This record gives sequence, structure tokens and C-alpha cells, in this order.
Amino acid sequence: MAETDAAALALAKPAPRVPRSTAQRISAIRRWTPVLWSIRIERPADYLFQPGHYARLGLPVDTPEAAVWRPYSIVSATTDSELEFLLVLIPGGAFTSQLAALREGDTVLLEQAVFGFFLDSQLAPGDTLWMLATGTGLGPYVSLLRTPGALDRYARVVLVHSARHADELAYRDEIEAPAAVSHGRLSYVPIVTREAGVSALTGRIPQLISDGALQAHVGRTLEPADSRIMVCGNPEFTTEMRALLAERGFTPCRRNSPGSMLFEKYW
Ligand SMILES: Cc1cc2nc3c(=O)[nH]c(=O)nc-3n(C[C@H](O)[C@H](O)[C@H](O)COP(=O)(O)OP(=O)(O)OC[C@H]3O[C@@H](n4cnc5c(N)ncnc54)[C@H](O)[C@@H]3O)c2cc1C
Ligand SMILES: NC(=O)c1ccc[n+]([C@@H]2O[C@H](COP(=O)([O-])OP(=O)(O)OC[C@H]3O[C@@H](n4cnc5c(N)ncnc54)[C@H](OP(=O)(O)O)[C@@H]3O)[C@@H](O)[C@H]2O)c1
Repeated sequence: MAETDAAALALAKPAPRVPRSTAQRISAIRRWTPVLWSIRIERPADYLFQPGHYARLGLPVDTPEAAVWRPYSIVSATTDSELEFLLVLIPGGAFTSQLAALREGDTVLLEQAVFGFFLDSQLAPGDTLWMLATGTGLGPYVSLLRTPGALDRYARVVLVHSARHADELAYRDEIEAPAAVSHGRLSYVPIVTREAGVSALTGRIPQLISDGALQAHVGRTLEPADSRIMVCGNPEFTTEMRALLAERGFTPCRRNSPGSMLFEKYW
């Protein structure tokens, strides 16, 4: 290629996008296991979100133009003065390996915008909201539970969280406490898949729904007429759930057309 053509091409190529961001201080770290932890960071005054939105975090802080950026669901209430995230360490992961080395007082980049459509307002009105999560996919539901009034439009709420081991059931105490005094309005179903005798139900969520064990445990049916369902986490899980629910008559949410099922895929 002639030198002038190469120069013209280089000019035509858009420069890589450098997100508009601010460096936010980590105010607290809570370790659930050696590879699973939550962080809280300062929240800019104009950073507005709804439960289900995700933020984009970047590192390293001193070179934003070369930083690695990743999306993370916001765990905190919309009323919280800080932002909280639930994170799992991916061995060799470009972002989480850097983040895992940070301590309270260190900083992380926060993109100014919020993102996503995993918002329960996308769903048509319904009687029972089912919130299904694997691993760190629990985060958006904690934000919904923590945000005053966010779940008021549902008569019943069922939160199902699947983790490999019992100590990975993050926020368990925080969820069990309101469930215990909710007179059956909030059901919390922890599922541990790689330890025997820890949870009332064992096995993967799609299978537990297919054979009716989950519905029997909760004492509710799962029908598109009155159930709305949010599914978040492992991509194979969300794909399996989409097929299973579509077979049962659940419909996806589209622009200007609320549906009965909603998905967030983490990788
Ligand atoms: C909308 C959205 C919200 C997300 N929210 C969260 C969140 O709240 N908490 C969280 O920990 N992660 C979340 N993620 C995943 C996160 O953005 C990163 O992908 C993850 O932290 C790995 O980044 P990394 O740079 O360390 O690893 P990378 O170097 O990017 O990843 C290496 C590989 O690990 C796999 N991988 C990525 N994430 C996971 C995971 N969580 N579990 C198992 N394997 C994975 C993928 O195959 C990936 O190619 C979210 C992703 C999306 C799209
Ligand atoms: N000790 C460690 O080093 C350690 C520990 C945990 C995580 N990690 C890292 O963190 C990453 C994420 O692990 P994670 O445990 O948070 O997430 P995960 O592998 O997605 O597992 C979380 C839960 O989802 C279930 N699940 C997985 N695939 C499913 C599917 N297709 N349908 C229904 N349920 C499904 C798992 O059940 P199953 O048990 O049946 O798969 C488990 O109960 C791992 O890839 C690993 O890199 C490391």
C-alpha cells in the first residue's frame, strides 16, 4: 500500500473511545471467600441509576486511555451515598486480577454513564416476581431489595441464588432477615450445587424448574399469566432458561412491548 493511502486509512479509523470517567476511592471491602468479595466506592453526586443498571469500572487509574474496562452490576440501593459491587476473581482475568490487589483507600475508575436494560420496569405488571441468579448474578436483586419501594408492585417476590459452595451465598443474612418477617411475601431459596446437605434444594435451577421441585418448594406455580421472571449470571444458564421459559409461553421484553421474562448475561 502506498504511504499516502496508509496515512489516509489511519486518519479515517476512529480513535479508540476513552470513557469519560472519574477516579473513585474504595471505602470498604468485604471478603466472602478468598475469590469473592464486595467493594464500596464513593458515588459522584450526579451518578443516578435504577436497580438493575450496571456501571463500568476501569484500571489502572493513572492511565485511563490504556485502562481495562469491565461492566459490573450495581448492588447498592439507589438511595445509598456509595456504590457497591459484588465481584468474583477470574484466574488470569485482565481486570479482576488488578482489582483484587487493591485495598481500602485505593481508587478505581468509574465511567460517568450508567448502562443496561435489566430493569424490572421492562416487565409487564404481574403478581409474582421470580429473581433467579447464579454466582455474582445476585447483585441486581440485592439492589432491588435494598431500594425502598422498588418491589412494591409485586404481591410476592421469590429470590433464587445458586452457588457452588455455601460460603459463596453472599448477602445471605441480609436477605434471610426480611424474608423471615415478610409473612411469605419474600421467599429466599439458596441453592448450593457442590456441597451436600447445605441447601433444601440441590441441582441446577433449570432442572429444578423443569421437574417442578422449585415451584413445589416455594408453593407457587410459574406461569406467564401472573409470573414475571428475571434471570442473571452464567451465560449457559441464561440461554437454557430462555429456551425453557419460551416453551412455557413466557415472552421477552422488547422496546415499547413489555414481556414476562428478562435476562442479563455476564460473559
Ligand atoms: C452486564 C454485565 C454485568 C456484570 N456484572 C458483574 C458483576 O456484578 N460481578 C462480576 O464479578 N462480574 C460481572 N460481570 C463480568 C465482568 O464484566 C467481567 O467479565 C469479569 O469480572 C471478568 O473480567 P476480567 O477482566 O477479570 O477477566 P477477562 O480477562 O475479561 O475474562 C476471562 C474469561 O473469564 C470468563 N468470565 C468472565 N466473567 C466471568 C464470571 N463472572 N464467572 C466466570 N467466568 C467469567 C469469560 O469467559 C472471559 O472470557 C458482568 C458482565 C456484564 C456483561
Ligand atoms: N476456589 C476458586 O478458585 C474459585 C471458586 C469459585 C469461583 N472461581 C472462579 O469464579 C468463576 C465464576 O464461578 P462462580 O462459581 O461464581 O460461577 P458459576 O461457575 O457460574 O457457578 C455459580 C452457580 O451457577 C451454577 N451453574 C453453572 N452453570 C449453570 C447452568 N448452565 N445452568 C444452571 N446453573 C449453572 C453452578 O452450578 P454447578 O456447581 O453445577 O456448576 C453454581 O451453582 C469461575 O469460573 C472460576 O474462575 C474460583
